[in-house]
Amino acid sequence: MTETPLQILLYLAASVLFVLGLKDLAHPRTAPRGNLLGAVGMLLAVVVTLGFADIVEWRWIATGLVVGTVAGAVSARWVAMTAMPEMVAALNGLGGAASLLVAGAFLRSDDALSTLVATGASGVIGAVTFTGSAVAFVKLREAKWIDRVVAPAHPIATILVALGTLAACVWLARGGGDAAYWTASAGALLLGVMLTTPIGGADMPVVISLLNSYSGLAAAATGFVLGNTLLVVAGSLVGASGIILTRIMCVAMNRSLANVLFGRIAPAGASASADSVYAGKVKSSSPEEVAMLLDGARRVLIVPGYGLAVAQAQHVVRDLAAALEARGATVEFGIHPVAGRMPGHMNVLLAEADVDYSKLKEMDEVNAAMGEVDVALVVGANDVVNPEARTNPQSPIAGMPVIDVDKARTVVVVKRSLSPGFAGIPNPLFAADNCLMLFGDGKKALVELAAALKAA
Ligand code: TAP
Repeated sequence: MTETPLQILLYLAASVLFVLGLKDLAHPRTAPRGNLLGAVGMLLAVVVTLGFADIVEWRWIATGLVVGTVAGAVSARWVAMTAMPEMVAALNGLGGAASLLVAGAFLRSDDALSTLVATGASGVIGAVTFTGSAVAFVKLREAKWIDRVVAPAHPIATILVALGTLAACVWLARGGGDAAYWTASAGALLLGVMLTTPIGGADMPVVISLLNSYSGLAAAATGFVLGNTLLVVAGSLVGASGIILTRIMCVAMNRSLANVLFGRIAPAGASASADSVYAGKVKSSSPEEVAMLLDGARRVLIVPGYGLAVAQAQHVVRDLAAALEARGATVEFGIHPVAGRMPGHMNVLLAEADVDYSKLKEMDEVNAAMGEVDVALVVGANDVVNPEARTNPQSPIAGMPVIDVDKARTVVVVKRSLSPGFAGIPNPLFAADNCLMLFGDGKKALVELAAALKAA
């Protein structure tokens, strides 16, 4: 389809809005504006594309916009913050399915080789994204049936299906038409399931970020099929940002993408056993004892982790921080880039509880000033504060950057037991001389701590 100069100009405006929106999304303070800019850009994109297409009546455009707006508003209201990864998985999957169907519908419009290649790419990447995201969605819901219903495929079977899909793509490029397209797509649908099923549930955030990138690539390929410049631009932005986010997560976990996709986290054998690390060295404390400690602290660093999200203790931790500040202490939150189970998990949780952004400090910043921290209060974090990452080159998490709370004067760790975190390894921090354990559910323990502080 040929684009008119006005259409191109409006597409350029929408592209600029997308880029500015992405830039704003990089910081929590400007993120709401970024979101709005992106949404306005998308509205412009939809209206201009359909308005100029001359094949859809305005009442259908209006109906689509109303249905989409209502669905978006309802999801924004009802989907819990902790369910955001599932939400993103669902949206990625729908994006992939859209590319698969739209490229398929336009198959006969142009049989130039370049268009056929773009069509094949759109169908195959879209199909992998669709079923891969569906599996990721189910795994994130922790529905165990997926492992019973879909056994992980043998790697050789996966390679055979991949080769079959590739062969169908070659057939498509050589004029195989509808039959070739849908054969390649069917292979890719199967491939999405086969590639995603063996990956552990805890690695799903990385997989979702990667699938997000795929959905962008599929959309960009569809843009070539349709001759729509804006779809190429928007798809490329999603593809690039998704892959950058995937890389950031891998670096923060000190794991390669290949290790996430095809390997398992290294077995705990390389770390010492829990018994030898903890036996006789762990000091259990009480809310009253910790309250006395906090009462005399001038500088407190709170380090939240996955357990804070599980306990839903974000509001309680905010109140505790406010109580400490009222007593004259300086309180900051140390945020590890992969604390929790999704990018920005801790930022989102603390923002939900209206914790001021200026109090959220990045890992490097808090590590540089750790010697001045009187009490580091770790709430439901484990791997991201494990000093073994620095000290044991044989550890499965060796080299992973961590928050060095062990270098604070005193550390208090709030968690329910000595159970390991995601990496499945013991944490020598819990046995350190300067560490006290406050055992209990994060929310309950912090409520008791706040009460004890009030009484102190
Ligand atoms: P983890 O190392 O997973 O530890 C979380 C701790 O929270 C557990 O040891 C658990 O101990 C405690 N906990 C659970 N429920 C609790 C509750 N109700 N109250 C108090 N404590 C509770 O978490 P982390 O330190 O945040 O590290 C994140 C891990 O996830 C890293 O290994 C990271 O590589 C991985 N990961 C992160 C991401 C992203 S993007 N964030 C993506 C993939 C993987 P108890 O059972 O004893 O209470």
